[in-house]
Amino acid sequence: MSELLLRKSALFTMRFQTVPALGVGDLLSGQLATTTQEQLVAMSSLTGCHRRLSGEEHRILSHIPSGQWMPAAQVAGDLAVSNGAIDALLEDGFLLGDTPEGRIATLREQEEKMLALDWDDFAALYHVQSRVHDLDVAAPLRQAAAMQPTGDQGPPPGAPFQDFLALGAQMSAELHAKSEHFDPPPPPFHKPRNAEPVQNLPLPEGDSAFQALLRHRKTTRVFDQNRPLGLQELSTVLYYTFGCFGHIELAPGLIGLRKTSPSGGSLHPIEAYPLILNVENVHPGIYHYDVERHGLSLLRPMTLEEARHHAVTFTLGQSYFGSAHALVLLTARWFRNFWKYRKAQKSYRVIHVDAGHLSQTLYLLCTEMGLGAFYTGAINDINIEQALDLDPLQEGVIGVAGCGQLLPGGGPLTLETLPYVPPR
Ligand SMILES: Cc1cc2nc3c(=O)[nH]c(=O)nc-3n(C[C@H](O)[C@H](O)[C@H](O)COP(=O)(O)O)c2cc1C
Repeated sequence: MSELLLRKSALFTMRFQTVPALGVGDLLSGQLATTTQEQLVAMSSLTGCHRRLSGEEHRILSHIPSGQWMPAAQVAGDLAVSNGAIDALLEDGFLLGDTPEGRIATLREQEEKMLALDWDDFAALYHVQSRVHDLDVAAPLRQAAAMQPTGDQGPPPGAPFQDFLALGAQMSAELHAKSEHFDPPPPPFHKPRNAEPVQNLPLPEGDSAFQALLRHRKTTRVFDQNRPLGLQELSTVLYYTFGCFGHIELAPGLIGLRKTSPSGGSLHPIEAYPLILNVENVHPGIYHYDVERHGLSLLRPMTLEEARHHAVTFTLGQSYFGSAHALVLLTARWFRNFWKYRKAQKSYRVIHVDAGHLSQTLYLLCTEMGLGAFYTGAINDINIEQALDLDPLQEGVIGVAGCGQLLPGGGPLTLETLPYVPPR
């Protein structure tokens, strides 16, 4: 420890958090805590660590200047703090050390990389803190199945849980519980305060094929596994959603692309990684969609069962998506955008809007082709990053789209809405 130099990470923030405090009076009376206390909490956008700081740790961080190395022995001597507190701050990425190798060196290099990639501070914090790993929304159902006296252990986490309807019912029950527990939800239609009375617009006349297509777009969750998706169908969906139809040199070396969806700065930082389950003449597995060639390059071959397992795990245990024919994992090459919009506060948001446009284009294409489509933002980011072998600071996951053959009659778990026409 004596040789070690320390500096504060540039990539964390702190805030106060009010938590219940158990006083002696509370303990004696057996009552729930009525008093509160303030805790100082630190959040790292380097490691994702989010935890309370001890008084000793707070003193260490306040003592070490930003951007300057200081001997660890001097810090320990000046403040009479323990090496354990310094080690804990190093482990969680709040302090950085000059060690040449190991985790401390990796974190230091990662910080340098993150600063060089021009991440906006708040975007980086939000991004790192909002990524999840191994979450499973169907866990309560799996646990209930495992408790059955039949000895049936139920499917393991991430397995394609076949009882789609049970999962749909669980989600519906959770939503109804919210209605009972919370104040009424906000109304569906908004009337701004201080607005003048509504002046009705004429309803559109005529009905084009495109207008009908827009009206028929909907989310499909359960697909017909008895019919594979045709290779031409997959090719059409990928080409017209992610394919390139034009290019332009915006500045020396900076090439903008035209696709069927708009993109902030014409940069198109979103990459598509098809996870193929049931497509004619394409082996199951994870591929990269090569926009330049309009082709697929295989990253990870799998059996159909493995591909289903990944489809479900990637989508937080939403077992119905394991019935899709192809999923498309959407990632963002952050720096493709950050290079142009250096440290811009809006970049991170703009990239997500790009993904939204691509999703809608995929939905509309599928609707026209008689296929089902979906998009989900409920994803295990970290599982997908690991499967794609991504460095999440360079390229991160945004969401998952998917498509496949419709079940006769449309299938369950599709939102059936009542028709609506504005009153006249
Ligand atoms: C950003 C975004 C995230 C979504 N996430 C999920 C999801 O996690 N699971 C799911 O089943 N559907 C998801 N959907 C689909 C919506 O639930 C669906 O659009 C909504 O219920 C309206 O139904 P419709 O698309 O059939 O009109 C998502 C859609 C969007 C745009």
